Amino acid sequence: MVKAVVAGAAGGIGQPLSLLLKLCPHVSDLALYDVVNSPGVATDLSHICTTGAVNGYLPDDNGMQKAFTGAGIVVIPAGIPRKPGMTRDDLFKINAGIVRDLIKGVASYCPDAFVLVISNPVNSTVPIAAQVLREAGVFNPRKLFGVTTLDVVRAQTFTAAVVDGDAKQGGNPESFKVPVVGGHSGDTIVPLLSLAEPAVTLTDAQREALTHRIQFGGDEVVQAKNGAGSATLSMAYAGYRFAHALLEAACAGKTSVEPSFVYLPGVPGGEQVKDQVGTDFFAIPVQLGPNGVEKVVSPLDKISNYEKGLLETAIKGLQGNIEKGIAFHKL
Ligand code: NAD
Ligand code: LMR
Repeated sequence: MVKAVVAGAAGGIGQPLSLLLKLCPHVSDLALYDVVNSPGVATDLSHICTTGAVNGYLPDDNGMQKAFTGAGIVVIPAGIPRKPGMTRDDLFKINAGIVRDLIKGVASYCPDAFVLVISNPVNSTVPIAAQVLREAGVFNPRKLFGVTTLDVVRAQTFTAAVVDGDAKQGGNPESFKVPVVGGHSGDTIVPLLSLAEPAVTLTDAQREALTHRIQFGGDEVVQAKNGAGSATLSMAYAGYRFAHALLEAACAGKTSVEPSFVYLPGVPGGEQVKDQVGTDFFAIPVQLGPNGVEKVVSPLDKISNYEKGLLETAIKGLQGNIEKGIAFHKL
């Protein structure tokens, strides 16, 4: 059983994610941290009849210290979301500083915790987090994760929708496994449909349309919400799915393989992937164990020529995003 922290707990993602964590059998203590309304959200959740305490903290009265101390996992959906017409990179100006300050709190109060960064732009906020942890002398790359699970969830859902109606291929989204690698924005997102399990047969036009939909799925929600934010409920599901997989490995010894945006040189098997892609940070399937990343399970040797082309484009975009994060917190 672990203490879990949600930083940004009063927000659109934070509230449903906190609800799901309140239902998680591995969480003994849930600490909700936000700059507004976290005590209210905590009181509301505390009436749910599952075991485990829930407490809300604001920045005053050493709230961050109280929330973070003793945590085994810290999930960070703090920061502003997109509005129509914005890119994720447009969020950097505000969210970079928010993530930096929260990670400073992690470094001071719970340096051994698993850290799951949801705040965008993930391609840059995760490098910022790594820099802050490195500066504090507590960087454990096996425990730092950029959460890209929503891309995997979308890949499952949208693939099932395309093959739905084809009796041979089946259309149940839960039955599909589609690895997604690269980063978390537009064409840095590389779905590997050729490696879908069970295998799917797609025409060239279907493959292109499906790839584009997975890469730009976030825009669909931003446009539909029309100024009221971006994906929150599907993200809470995805964030919980990743957190739960990690806690299953850490608390119940049940390992699984999930894609995540990680620091390649610091995780077992990551150097070989770095040699192939050239970037330090990359989303790749990783096997999760009690100490975080056990090893990278790279599908890159098996990808199609079409996906090799997508990867080339992704790497170009990713490189700049990573450098921007590193430059924001130079050591
Ligand atoms: P939101 O505005 O609804 O909630 C953000 C919350 O963060 C608010 O409650 C706010 O008070 C809080 N916050 C702001 N500064 C803080 C600080 N310094 N410390 C603690 N809390 C602070 O936004 P949202 O829709 O929940 O989205 C949050 C972030 O998640 C955005 O950056 C969004 O782009 C990102 N996101 C990422 C993914 C992904 O796949 N990784 C998916 C969806 C959204
Ligand atoms: C998403 O993929 O839904 C998130 O990154 C939010 C966004 O800005 O699209």
